Amino acid sequence: MADRRIVTAVTGASGALYAVRFLRACLSLGMRVDLVVSEYGHRLLIEECGLNLKVESVEGWLERRYGPVPRGTGSITRHGEHELGASIASGSQGWDAMVVVPCSMKTLSGIAHGAASNLIERAADVTLKERRPLILVPRETPLNLVQIENLRIAATAGAAIVTAMPAFYQKPQSLEDLADFIAGRVLSLLRIEHRLFPAWEG
Ligand SMILES: Cc1cc2nc3c(=O)[nH]c(=O)nc-3n(C[C@H](O)[C@H](O)[C@H](O)COP(=O)(O)O)c2cc1C
Repeated sequence: MADRRIVTAVTGASGALYAVRFLRACLSLGMRVDLVVSEYGHRLLIEECGLNLKVESVEGWLERRYGPVPRGTGSITRHGEHELGASIASGSQGWDAMVVVPCSMKTLSGIAHGAASNLIERAADVTLKERRPLILVPRETPLNLVQIENLRIAATAGAAIVTAMPAFYQKPQSLEDLADFIAGRVLSLLRIEHRLFPAWEG
């Protein structure tokens, strides 16, 4: 599990907390993250979490907000949204999986239609062509037919859709608990063990 390399993209959908809680879990599990944040992803991180990546690192913000990451030996390498020459633009780089959290309807569209117009869409394109797991965490409601079709196309192409719909049976006490539920569902799909919430015992 340790040393798994996960490309993580943060786009401009509401739910930036899903992204930072997922990144915290990755760090605590010792994973190597290649992080790409879109322009609107940056904006939502500032507006919803108070994390300005121009002046602070994800790791610094997490520590300031929640204290040291438990057993955190993972790492985050940042790439620019428009850096189409970055390592993760090529299938010759061996990352294990890609997660887009949260995934805007605009980026969903770009992935579903193979636009590859920025590093997020290109890395997703490569992830699919290399037959590696691609997990999208879309957040939008209600959905129009175009968006539903784009979800269908992405799922048909091999992406897993983890809708940003936290459950309540685990009795969440905080927004972090709700976000951890989604982070945990993503990790479970990647077959990565975690303790972000207790399993349903029936
Ligand atoms: C405050 C704010 C909240 C937004 N929330 C959502 C959202 O929940 N879902 C979504 O699909 N788009 C949302 N958008 C619109 C996207 O940010 C916009 O379509 C943008 O072009 C997405 O680009 P990106 O995918 O490259 O980040 C929001 C925009 C703003 C400014």
